[in-house]
Amino acid sequence: MAASRPLPLRLAVPLALALLLALVLVAPPRRAAGPRPPARVSALSSSARTPAKGKRTKGGERVTGHLNATYADLPAPRWDWEEMPAAPVPRLDGAAVQIGDLLYVFAGYGSLDHVHSHVDVYNFTSNTWTERFDMPKEMAHSHLGMVSDGRYVYAVSGQYGPQCRASINRNFVLDTQTKKWHELPPLPLPGYAPATQLWRGRLHVMGGGKEDRHEPGLERWSLAVKDGKALENEWRAEVPIPRGGPHRACVVANDKLFVIGGQEGDFMAKPGSPIFKCVRRHEVVYGDVYMLDDGSKWKQVSPMPKPDSHIEFAWVVVNNSIVVVGGTTEKHPITKKMILVGEVFRFDLETMTWSVIGCTKLSGSRQP
Ligand SMILES: *[C@@H]1O[C@H](CO)[C@@H](O)[C@H](O)[C@H]1NC(C)=O
Ligand SMILES: *[C@@H]1O[C@H](CO)[C@@H](O)[C@H](O)[C@H]1NC(C)=O
Ligand SMILES: *[C@@H]1O[C@H](CO)[C@@H](O)[C@H](O)[C@H]1NC(C)=O
Repeated sequence: MAASRPLPLRLAVPLALALLLALVLVAPPRRAAGPRPPARVSALSSSARTPAKGKRTKGGERVTGHLNATYADLPAPRWDWEEMPAAPVPRLDGAAVQIGDLLYVFAGYGSLDHVHSHVDVYNFTSNTWTERFDMPKEMAHSHLGMVSDGRYVYAVSGQYGPQCRASINRNFVLDTQTKKWHELPPLPLPGYAPATQLWRGRLHVMGGGKEDRHEPGLERWSLAVKDGKALENEWRAEVPIPRGGPHRACVVANDKLFVIGGQEGDFMAKPGSPIFKCVRRHEVVYGDVYMLDDGSKWKQVSPMPKPDSHIEFAWVVVNNSIVVVGGTTEKHPITKKMILVGEVFRFDLETMTWSVIGCTKLSGSRQP
């Protein structure tokens, strides 16, 4: 994720894997999905988001042609995608970082009733899944905030356990060279999928879903860190972000902090359910982009070409731009199905404008 380098020829490979991950990660925690090609994941995701019986409109797909740009594919150059080895386990709402030619994928739902507590490692040079090791038992299993400095991986808060269980405020660091973990001071509040980045020597954590999993949090905190260690005992409160909510891309590029897309609202635990059964709640997806360049005053810059959520681990900084692959957009207004985003977006850091540079579709078919 190094900034300002020419686009490497091998970018397509990491991006392809990021796409696969994104598709797997964004699928809602409804049921297990075995390893399968993206097209099938997308089909599963759509059907898995079908609302309760009776609300579904038969043949809703037919009206796709009349819908606006949010629901249709934007014109995009076709990219050639290469299928990579499937991940050892499916992961919904897990986390991922790339360090050199290794991709570390953490946690995630295997099914709605089962969560993973281990890390799988993919080597982009050998194109194989090479390693597997455990996460600390106390660490969250999904909806983590995560960022790496190139050696240490910071894993922040998240949901502990399956279904729609509570979030925790505990934070952990992995030294990828020694495979040792240790704990950082806890956040003032627990949260779901907060935007997380390292910026100017501090670990920044902001937004996310509040304790009820649905209400967007606006809080931002930071902690001075160096080489995986906290330099302070407590998190510092920072100027809150204007819009909160989970599943946003949080990127540092050219010494500016960007928070991109995401959503307000999420599945919540059914009140009184002993298993914290997930029930769907109203969600709104955004394409808004917020930027900090002086540390205290948020500025809004050009929004994404369409609302896009679940993109926290689906971006890369390359060629003086932020490239975002896939995600989820607003649900279909008639069928209420989740719509996956097929476009690859580029945010040019020079002009601060977006363009559509590619498409993740493997076939010529349009999504509903
Ligand atoms: C890099 O960015 C420039 C514009 O800033 C663009 O013209 C060029 O095509 C990009 N290169 C690649 C390989 O995408
Ligand atoms: C498409 O429709 C949605 C929902 O009505 C609206 O919020 C959005 O602004 C529209 N987008 C465009 C590009 O017109
Ligand atoms: C990835 O695989 C290549 C080819 O087998 C190997 O040379 C390299 O050391 C591996 N990378 C790491 C970081 O283990």
